[in-house]
Amino acid sequence: MDNSLHILSPTNKAESRQSRREFLRNALALSVIAASCGPSTVLAKVLPDDVIEKGASLTGIYTLRFSEFTALRSVNGSIRLDIPNAPRSLGRIVVSRIAQNEFSALSEMCTHSGCVIEPFQNGRFNCFCHGSVFNARGAVVNGPANRPLPSFATTYRAGDDFVQIDIPGLVTSSVLGDSQVSFSLGQNYPNPASGQTTIEYNVEKQSMVTISLLSILGKEISELVKKEHEPGVHRITTDVSSLSRGVYLYRMETSAGFTQTRKLTVI
Ligand code: FES
Repeated sequence: MDNSLHILSPTNKAESRQSRREFLRNALALSVIAASCGPSTVLAKVLPDDVIEKGASLTGIYTLRFSEFTALRSVNGSIRLDIPNAPRSLGRIVVSRIAQNEFSALSEMCTHSGCVIEPFQNGRFNCFCHGSVFNARGAVVNGPANRPLPSFATTYRAGDDFVQIDIPGLVTSSVLGDSQVSFSLGQNYPNPASGQTTIEYNVEKQSMVTISLLSILGKEISELVKKEHEPGVHRITTDVSSLSRGVYLYRMETSAGFTQTRKLTVI
């Protein structure tokens, strides 16, 4: 962990706590992306109203005002929240107005095998990879998924012009510069993809990172990344529109000996 975060002299402790709190708050800022837009269309940053430290994890309560997030004014309106440094298995959080006075906040990652669910429509979320369907609260309507989508508490009182989302313990102190970010390769989004798709990956320590696109039989098609990386979270966006429809693989390898492979579907 960044040592400077722990140096609190008795005389300036309150001041330091304040700046640390501000630092945490900014570190937890969410990017808000319209559900109907591409994955890189960031509309705004949302800061948590407050940050509570619980051991190594942090809790943030986020306020989404309808004046800024107009999609949430209407029933069936939906946005996606991008949480930097959250576990890759979570993806973004889909916040939807599922009834006049009711909201849901769900992980966008299908619990069957990690594809990104489609936008909220007709009270449901479809996953086109293998046909799973979830209801507005994330419960399974049709398999093969057999677990609900991870969900987060929302607070809304009739007449309010905002909704609050409580996101507990998603972000650990690694966001603050802790060098304990482990190597990992995230699921590309959107997936399936027909145009641009983004792959996020974590680098634990400085190393050469190679990410290759492979056929389903493991034959290399192209090299997406090959360079020395600093520790941290990295992203690569690639265009798959020239590829034939089908299932592909992408593999991350590092000079530190880490290897991980995931599937990517082109439609
Ligand atoms: S990944 Fe969603 S149905 Fe298989």
